[in-house]
Parts: sequence; structure tokens; C-alpha cells
Amino acid sequence: MKSVLFALTVLTVFGWRLQLASGSCGLCQSSNDVACINQTAYHMCFGKETPDQSQIFPCPDGLVCTDKPQVCFQRSETPASCGDTDSCGRCNANNVFACTSRTTFAFCFGATTPTTVNGTCPAGRFCDASSANFCVAKATEDSIICHLD
Ligand SMILES: *[C@@H]1O[C@H](CO)[C@@H](O)[C@H](O)[C@H]1NC(C)=O
Ligand SMILES: *[C@@H]1O[C@H](CO)[C@@H](O)[C@H](O)[C@H]1NC(C)=O
Repeated sequence: MKSVLFALTVLTVFGWRLQLASGSCGLCQSSNDVACINQTAYHMCFGKETPDQSQIFPCPDGLVCTDKPQVCFQRSETPASCGDTDSCGRCNANNVFACTSRTTFAFCFGATTPTTVNGTCPAGRFCDASSANFCVAKATEDSIICHLD
């Protein structure tokens, strides 16, 4: 039941937005009514579609801004909603694949640039360039995630 709920949440939050070619920075999240503006800060939404930019709230040390109801959460559990795009399209350490968005990857086949052969993570998983499994359900301290939708 818990994993079903998790999958549903992920699907609700990311699923439909995947269709839109925009990042999830500055977007009001229905799951917690905030808009993450970078990995560690957010605006309130107060039930509206657009964030209230008059105040910036920081996450406590060690936590990142997520789509969880708790807003700020351990990075080791959940990827941030908004953040680094540096790793996007970069082949991982052993040149096997690159994450091209939060949920897509492209094969590198031993080269340093990704090919056009690409795939999509199963529902509830996101691409982690630090993982041999390509797509994971949980981030780790070492996760390399491409924060693009
Ligand atoms: C996030 O944005 C806040 C407010 O602009 C800024 O103070 C903070 O340094 C930023 N954090 C990162 C990791 O960029
Ligand atoms: C992903 O693969 C499809 C064909 O399966 C191709 O049309 C598309 O250009 C590829 N995307 C990227 C980013 O390489």
C-alpha cells in the first residue's frame, strides 16, 4: 500500500509535468503548496498557481526542497525538486549512460558523449548516474540526478 501511494504521488507530481518541457524550479507543487527555487530554498504558494515571491524560506542544514508534504527532506531519501542540471547529458563514471532528465537516460556505449539510444525510467523511479541500475526509487548520498523534467 505504501509503495502504491508512493508511486501514485510520484506519478501525480511528475507524471503530467513530464509532458511540459520545463524544469520544476519555481513551480507550485500541489503536494505541499510550495515552489522550490533551488536545491535548498522555496517560496510559498498559498493555494495559488504562482509562487508568492515576497518571501524566501531556507531548508535547514542538510535538507533539500522536495515535493514531500514535509517540504524539506533528507537528500538521501528524496531528490530535490529543483537544483543541479550540471550532470544532465554527461556520461557517468564508466561511460555506460547519462541521465538526460529526471526520468530519462541515454546510453554512452563506452564513449564520453551520450548516443541517441535512450530510455525512460519505470514509474516511481528516477535516473541516477551514480547507480549501476540506471533508475532508482531512492536517492543516496552519492546520487547524481539530472534536475530537468
Ligand atoms: C538558494 O537561493 C537562496 C535565496 O536566493 C540563496 O540564499 C541560497 O544560497 C541558494 N542556495 C543554493 C544552493 O543555490
Ligand atoms: C531518443 O530515441 C528516439 C528514438 O527511439 C529518438 O527519436 C530521439 O531523438 C532520442 N532522443 C535523444 C535525446 O537522443
